[in-house]
Amino acid sequence: MNKSFNVPRGTSDILPDATPLWEEIESKARKICKSYGYREIRTPVYEDINLFKRSLGQTSDVVNKQLLELASSKEDEGYALRPEGTASVVRSYIENSLDKNEALSKLFYIGPMFRGERPQKGRLRQFHQIGAEAIGPNSTSSYLDAEIIALAIHLLKELGVKEPKLKINSLGSKEDKSIISSWLRGEFAKHKNDLCEECQSRFDRNIFRLLDCKNESCRKVVKVVLGADLVLPLLPESKQYFEKVQAVLKDLGIHFEVSPQLVRGLDYYTHTVFEITAEGLGSQDAVGAGGRYGGLVNELGGSENVEGVGFALGMERVLLAGGQEVSAAPGADVYIISMKEEYQPQAFLILQQIRQAGISADMNFAGGSMKSQMGRANKANVRFALILGEDEVKNNTVAVKDMQAGTQEAVDVKDIVSVLRGKSWIGPGQ
Ligand code: HAM
Repeated sequence: MNKSFNVPRGTSDILPDATPLWEEIESKARKICKSYGYREIRTPVYEDINLFKRSLGQTSDVVNKQLLELASSKEDEGYALRPEGTASVVRSYIENSLDKNEALSKLFYIGPMFRGERPQKGRLRQFHQIGAEAIGPNSTSSYLDAEIIALAIHLLKELGVKEPKLKINSLGSKEDKSIISSWLRGEFAKHKNDLCEECQSRFDRNIFRLLDCKNESCRKVVKVVLGADLVLPLLPESKQYFEKVQAVLKDLGIHFEVSPQLVRGLDYYTHTVFEITAEGLGSQDAVGAGGRYGGLVNELGGSENVEGVGFALGMERVLLAGGQEVSAAPGADVYIISMKEEYQPQAFLILQQIRQAGISADMNFAGGSMKSQMGRANKANVRFALILGEDEVKNNTVAVKDMQAGTQEAVDVKDIVSVLRGKSWIGPGQ
């Protein structure tokens, strides 16, 4: 026997019993995003690798360790599968001059992302995100940061995550970031020997990441450097901006915790950053995250005064946290049974006629006895069986059997669609 194949590690099939759940999540997400004024954007699943290097940061873990490159042919060189959506959306915003049509572009996306991570529960190589980005010259507003957070929380609750926990922080403006990073570098240098190996290497790459290290000895150093309240020394305007975000969230009744150690792993953030976690997910408990990106549009070739803010939710983690059960997908509404093989041409014509009228219908092309075909109709949980026997073919009728009521009636073939439509049941296309 030939060797069979397995799905690649860290990816999974979404089988037919599970797709209705995914469809439901996607359609709820679309509806909610639209109700906040966001419109859907679809970008390619791969991009120029330098787009990710320049936006997420050469030193970020995603770029350093997790980019899945396409290099199967000369032509493919220099591309990578997208590890997230923000960089692509900003690329598209600039390339298509979306700022010419509107002062603020509010965009959402749903789709697969790819990261070459070591797979574990909730951490995959191909996973799916629902994300939203608000980009434009008019996007610098604490209200917009609060709107993005409110939308993320609204989605999570609506998608079954019962008690999402929100942590927020501010990294300050670009100016703050550069002042704070040189200050941190000076302070941490005094304790370099007490830092873990990972932090020693992060020291030059991204000094902010030292703040969220879980290692006990690094945590002690962080406390010494930042003081007991662990607050980053922001410039007054940045502090004020962050306070306004918090005030708006409070007005909206959104609970949050200010977590000064929340720094995020991607380089593009300025000002507000946030992470949302859920219970019961183990170590990979972030169901969503996001923040403001002040310099990214300019960094990728757009105007200097254009900012953005956004978030992304991990759909697999949302499903795990929501605990929704996959139930058997419903089958067709109608099943056609042809009692003899020679009636199949007529059965097939009726089948297509019904389908074209928007009613879901199926039949077994392999034939079989009346009993076995009826067994199939029962198993498929169909609403009506249409039986084509000798009498029916002779009279140009079909026997319509209501599988719930157990009743049966003869119907002219030409009337079948209108009779089925007249039945009191909600079928597709009705
Ligand atoms: P992120 O924190 O890298 O942010 O990812 C957002 C969410 O995607 C995570 O909270 C998690 O739920 C999910 N996720 C990430 N990696 C994996 C994985 N390997 N397996 C399963 N789920 C995963 C971003 O991607 C930013 N683009 C968010 C953003 C949008 N910031 C501004 N706008």
